[in-house]
Amino acid sequence: MKVLPNHIYQMDILEGIKYLPDKSIKTIIADPPYFLGMTHNGQKGSFVDLAICAPFFSQLFAQFKRVLQDDGEVFFFCDFRSYAFFYPIFNSVLKQKNLIVWDKGNMAGNHYNFSHEFIIFGTKEGCNINRGGSNVWKKRRV
Ligand SMILES: C[S@@+](CC[C@H](N)C(=O)[O-])C[C@H]1O[C@@H](n2cnc3c(N)ncnc32)[C@H](O)[C@@H]1O
Repeated sequence: MKVLPNHIYQMDILEGIKYLPDKSIKTIIADPPYFLGMTHNGQKGSFVDLAICAPFFSQLFAQFKRVLQDDGEVFFFCDFRSYAFFYPIFNSVLKQKNLIVWDKGNMAGNHYNFSHEFIIFGTKEGCNINRGGSNVWKKRRV
């Protein structure tokens, strides 16, 4: 299958990403489900039992590394519960350079409002691109 620019493909990411050539992508922005909600034995899960997720994300990050240009960047969304799970898996393959906090404005919530997202910002190991600006991003008022 030939992947065309500026097209949307609806398919499993581990299948679809295989069609992308090596070192062909400058910027990866990924907003995965933060928690798949089940365990390796099909029971309702907790955040301390994510055995089913680890191989999936190990493969995904390995594919990110393959398709990323040497000076490419990854922006990977997660939340306060999943960040600790993603951190070691991401860094076993790629190199996290910072954790961006995206202040997206006032949202719902009972124990303080959910007003931010975490975004893992990373590159390939050895990539020395510099980025200025704050690691706190604020929603622009329009
Ligand atoms: C947090 S949502 C992303 C929402 C998106 N940023 C938006 O603004 O609409 C996660 C998405 O990942 C998709 N998804 C889950 N597993 C996937 C997989 N294996 N391959 C591709 N997409 C998947 C889900 O269908 C869902 O749309």
